[in-house]
Formats: sequence, structure tokens, C-alpha cells
Amino acid sequence: MCAKLHDEPNNELYKSLLDGNKKFVENTLKADPEYFSNLAKGQSPPVLWIGCADSRVPANQITNTAPGEIFVHRNIANMVVHSDMNMLSVLDYAVNVLKVKHVIVTGHYGCGGIIAAMSNQQFGLIDNWLRHIKDVYRLHAEELDSITDEEQRTDRLVELNVIENVHNLCATSIVQNAWEKGQFVGVHGWVYSLKTGIIKDMQVSAYDTDNMENVFKFK
Ligand code: CO
Repeated sequence: MCAKLHDEPNNELYKSLLDGNKKFVENTLKADPEYFSNLAKGQSPPVLWIGCADSRVPANQITNTAPGEIFVHRNIANMVVHSDMNMLSVLDYAVNVLKVKHVIVTGHYGCGGIIAAMSNQQFGLIDNWLRHIKDVYRLHAEELDSITDEEQRTDRLVELNVIENVHNLCATSIVQNAWEKGQFVGVHGWVYSLKTGIIKDMQVSAYDTDNMENVFKFK
């Protein structure tokens, strides 16, 4: 059963999205009449982006790229959880079918997921997801506990969470099998600043298992 559209502000907002789409099509075709027919032919993005679901961190805009250039997976706090079938399916498809050259985990300062994970409050179902971030905190508790300023401590956990998720990617059989075959896959960690728009490269790029603890290496 569909209810009739009520004349209220929320429906105006809803309708404005479809109006926005019409403007998008109009403007895009004005600039390039072949735009949609070209994109419809297929995709071969060279990059997989694993980012936060936060509405302020859109992969294409902040890297000045266009649709078709970045394959995207987003969740709360840009997590790489090795039992997450959604993430694994995206990663498998990106590496083995699209053959992306780079996989980038992108966190952002001021991340609500990180802030929530640092608190002792219950938020409901999401607590189970945030637990993975609490695990990252525990791994780096000594360093984090020594930072007295709360914002600085949050920012550092954002960075450490990205670094741990780069490690989590490298630990997957998907990435390791690609490396074993000699396929080029760079795995990287970035943190985006909402305040400046600038991306910080965490300098943890990996191209092989050389720096990985032995227990994570597959034969
Ligand atoms: Co976030």
C-alpha cells in the first residue's frame, strides 16, 4: 500500500532529490552528450575505496575523480572486518575481476564511530560493530592513554584504526593470493580532514607480505 504524498516539508525534501537528478542529467548532457552512453558500456576503476559512511566524505569529490574511476565500499568507521561478507565480496570482486591497482582505506578525523567507540555509552546494535574499534584501542592503549587532550586522542585512534585496517586487508587471502600471483595491488591508509579537506597519507602502503607478522602469512 502506498500512501499519498503529503504536502509536508519532508516530502518536499524527498521530491527535491528527484528534481536534483533532472538537473544533473540536463547539465551533464549539456557538457557531454555521450556521457551516459559511454559510462553505460562498463566500468574498469583502478581503485577500491573503503571509507566511512559519513555523508561528508564522498570518495569522488575529495579526490577530484569522476564516476567510473573509484569502486567504493563504505561502512561506519571504514572497517575491514574479516568476517564481513559484504566487504569481502567487494574486495574479491575488485581485486579478482576489476583488477584494481590500489585499495585505499580512508578514515576521517572527527569520526562519529570512533568517538562512540571511545565512550562507555551503549548505543544498541552498533555496539557490536564498534567493538572492533575498541579492540584497536586495546592494541594501542599505552600510546592512546598517554594523550591527555581528548580530541587529539580521538584523532590518533582514527589514524591507528586506518593503519590496523590496512593490516586487516593485507591479512586477507584475497590480497595475499593476488600478490602471490604477481598481480600488482597497493594497499594504502589515508585520513581525511573535514576541517581542511586535506588527505593525510599515513605512509603504511603495502605491496607484499614482507613486513607482516609471520602468523598472518599464507603459503
Ligand atoms: Co566516520
